[in-house]
Amino acid sequence: MEISEQVLQTSEKYILQLRALYVANGYRPYRMSKFEEYDLYAKNKGFLVSDNVITFTDTNGRLLALKPDVTLSIIKNSQDLPQELQKVCYSENVYREDKGTKAFKEIMQTGVECFGKVEDEDVYQVIILAAKSMQLLAADWVLELANVDAVMWQRLAASEFAGHLHLTPVIPVDANYYNGTVFKGYINGVPSAVLSGGQYDRLMEKMHRHSKAIGFAVYVDLLERLEQVQTAVQDDFLNVALPKGRLGEKVYAMFAKAGYECPSILENNRKLFFENEEKKIRYYWVKPNDVAKYVERGAADLGITGLDILAEYEPDVTELLDLKIGICRMMVAGIKGAKMNETSTLRVATKFTNIATKYYRSKGRDIDIIKLHGSIEIAPLLGLSDVIVDIVETGTTLKENNLEELETVLPISARLIANKSACKFKQEKIDLVKKELGNILVNE
Ligand code: PRP
Repeated sequence: MEISEQVLQTSEKYILQLRALYVANGYRPYRMSKFEEYDLYAKNKGFLVSDNVITFTDTNGRLLALKPDVTLSIIKNSQDLPQELQKVCYSENVYREDKGTKAFKEIMQTGVECFGKVEDEDVYQVIILAAKSMQLLAADWVLELANVDAVMWQRLAASEFAGHLHLTPVIPVDANYYNGTVFKGYINGVPSAVLSGGQYDRLMEKMHRHSKAIGFAVYVDLLERLEQVQTAVQDDFLNVALPKGRLGEKVYAMFAKAGYECPSILENNRKLFFENEEKKIRYYWVKPNDVAKYVERGAADLGITGLDILAEYEPDVTELLDLKIGICRMMVAGIKGAKMNETSTLRVATKFTNIATKYYRSKGRDIDIIKLHGSIEIAPLLGLSDVIVDIVETGTTLKENNLEELETVLPISARLIANKSACKFKQEKIDLVKKELGNILVNE
């Protein structure tokens, strides 16, 4: 029976087309179960996007996990055959925690793994296959590559995909697992990378394999966006999310000085959305804590947010510039003159649980974290906590509540951030804004 394409969802259609592409290129379809022994992830946390995985115990008392990753299981279950080239492809769901919201998501991945006797030619072929995958998905795409040697780049630059391939100095990955070329694929209109891959010989070493490996995955769910109504972000305007309030007003003044004025923004009304057709710029006033979300999800190309938000929520955005305004500091503070008990678990009240957890973990100190939403300074006064981790600007709030600064956790200032996909498809405009704002900073 033939199946009409009309009965398929967008993601299903792409999964089938990608699988056909991979099988035609000699990849063997690989099927696996949804769970795996937790130990595999406990030993390789650095290879995972997030530390947290969903675990459960089976009736035999084995601790299992819903797979946050496919590569580890494929390698674990494969034979160590250094003299052979093994090529497999898969379409599987993985279960990952969203760094910002901490909610688990089911993510459909389609990809390939090529391991064993991997030579330069095979690395080249895998990169070309990644490019062919991108071409199958969209017309306007970019494959960004880092750590490519001169010979390989020469070959790639002579390929039919040359115009879509961009070299970049770094793509942040864990060097304990990845050793050579890494790459990410972006499509105009999809806010984050739809393809991600690279060479992971170090993971092979860690798993006691005597051979090399390279692979990539396509995040098929993101492709549903391709057929949705085009958002404002896809026109030739630059969309800027400004934090509502004094900081946002200062930032707008900087943009205006740099030649991106939008006079209607100064009118006294309740509008949140302003554009200057001539300058092709659009501004939105949004809650300061939400700016990074607008940018990460592609509802804005650029945004301005504090380093505190970037450190706390780790949004998947590109940080472009320190604007040297909104300067304050993340501090540990406690009751003036109070003696701390160094041996018992420290009770820490804060809005910034990630920052505080990481700070004390780096010091090897056990803490009991108490998440509050505001008026943090009151917690030690009422005996709710021993210390607080909070923002200090003038120091007035601490002083008026009989608290003192104890340790600096992080100096903070406002940062210009950009959506990762916009950085590829509106690169010239974004580079110009960065340069002009940078000039203003130098001259002030
Ligand atoms: C922030 C921060 C401190 C205060 C520090 O609070 O949480 O409480 O500002 O400023 P200062 O050093 O100049 O006194 P915010 O005004 O955001 O209110 P919050 O209590 O709701 O966090």
